[in-house]
Amino acid sequence: MSERTPAHIARLVPHLGLTGTERILELGAAPGVAVAEIGPMLTGDGHITALDRSATGVRRIRERNEDLIDAGRLTVVEQDLTTLSGDPGSRFDLIFASNVNVFWTHPAKANVDALAALLAPGGRLLLFYGYGPDDGAGSGRDTGALVAATLRNSAALTAVTVDGGSATLQVSARKKT
Ligand SMILES: C[S@@+](CC[C@H](N)C(=O)[O-])C[C@H]1O[C@@H](n2cnc3c(N)ncnc32)[C@H](O)[C@@H]1O
Repeated sequence: MSERTPAHIARLVPHLGLTGTERILELGAAPGVAVAEIGPMLTGDGHITALDRSATGVRRIRERNEDLIDAGRLTVVEQDLTTLSGDPGSRFDLIFASNVNVFWTHPAKANVDALAALLAPGGRLLLFYGYGPDDGAGSGRDTGALVAATLRNSAALTAVTVDGGSATLQVSARKKT
């Protein structure tokens, strides 16, 4: 696809701090633009799993990233993240999401313990919010504080931090080792 990468996706990718060899899970990944940015960076065992609950969204992820699927670098999953279980066979180095609101709208449903169980020890969970400096993200509420409180409820996570200093709000945590 030749559409330009939206600014909020272009902005968040450097914040992922990738070496390219990570096993990555993106939550709410439709329409697959972040996947398309990350895919060419993958090397060695690097792999990305793109999950979205929307059938249309999943189709768009697949259409946009056929080359990555063919190369064995991308797995696309149609699932609601609130139904994930901590499959011990899966160990991601990084789980991230952009503009997925369940972490502050329905903290109990957000299933953070299951997400933590999917992370390798020391693995990172990064949640991004906002589309740009003028989108008013968080106006009338402190999204960062709400999301951080959700993550702090998981005993498996540590080092929960909120960075609201740039156009994109970033809430980070790490799986305990
Ligand atoms: C506002 S869009 C953001 C899309 C993209 N991540 C971005 O930042 O441009 C939210 C996406 O997350 C998906 N989503 C929302 N809640 C979800 C959930 N509970 N489980 C899986 N996907 C979800 C939606 O289907 C949609 O594709």
